[in-house]
Amino acid sequence: MVATNNLKTPQGQASFEISAYLQARQRLCDVALEGAIPIVYPEKIYEAMRYSLLAGGKRLRPILCLATCEMAGGTIEMAMPTACALEMIHTMSLIHDDLPAMDNDDYRRGQLTNHKVYGENIAILAGDGLLAHAFEFVATNTQNVPAERLVQVIAQLAKAVGAAGLVGGQVLDLDSEGKPDISLETLNFIHIHKTAALLEASVVSGGILAGVKDSDRQRLSRYAQNIGLAFQIIDDILDITATQEELGKTAGKDQKAQKATYPSLWGLEESRRQAQQLVEAAVAELTPFGEGSIPLAAIANFIISRTH
Ligand code: FPP
Ligand code: MG
Repeated sequence: MVATNNLKTPQGQASFEISAYLQARQRLCDVALEGAIPIVYPEKIYEAMRYSLLAGGKRLRPILCLATCEMAGGTIEMAMPTACALEMIHTMSLIHDDLPAMDNDDYRRGQLTNHKVYGENIAILAGDGLLAHAFEFVATNTQNVPAERLVQVIAQLAKAVGAAGLVGGQVLDLDSEGKPDISLETLNFIHIHKTAALLEASVVSGGILAGVKDSDRQRLSRYAQNIGLAFQIIDDILDITATQEELGKTAGKDQKAQKATYPSLWGLEESRRQAQQLVEAAVAELTPFGEGSIPLAAIANFIISRTH
């Protein structure tokens, strides 16, 4: 992992250690998620939901939400229920993405996929359960936030998962299998919807909870869309260059499914250059937020230096 050199932390220390920051935030999120879904009757479904939710992801979406809320003057406590909901939504999308009717994958987050352990029927229901629980969790657990902000957050999350977000992106992604010659516009459309939309909801909802003004909200959207595309470019690169052990999921899938990817369109080197440019554009959007934006800037840089 990387340390972002020559930066001052919000507390004015000499450097900002992104790796320590991410680890500490990941632990906070893991503790909150651990308590978010108790096991009750019928136990099987709660166990299946917890199996994938607590499998130890990077927690990037919740961390982005918490970091943005803090940067905009809010607190971790205000944002934690939304942060947990984002991870529930992300996890449900992965459970469904791995199903035989979609990508038919056996491994995720270093363990067998949900349907491999619980069967397809329970895996579908575990995804549905997590999606519904995400919205209930935000609505019933958020404290010290005005109701109108909460309604906006819920609308943001719903838009990001629906046909105007993840679902729409996934539809075109499925259509693009076996078509290695799709256009850059179609590839961008897929990833803006399938990947960037939930990252955007993570960042913007953190801002909304803290009460950012409209112009700052738009800056946050642009920051997130840029890091979202950069994230996907790196994902495509890692699918080629990393191992199954590093990724915790099957490697080399894009080529096998004959999918167009950024490296297949541009090559590896140009893909890295484009990702770097997107991160620079993202960080430029943070200028008005001053020193408080150091964590978000460091997260943007982490996204392109990650190895899994
Ligand atoms: C992984 O992409 C999959 C996603 C980022 C989201 C997929 C979206 C759905 C299945 C829709 C879910 C439904 C709702 C209601 C949100 P990938 O297959 O490119 O990456 P991978 O290698 O990690 O599988
Ligand atoms: Mg997949």
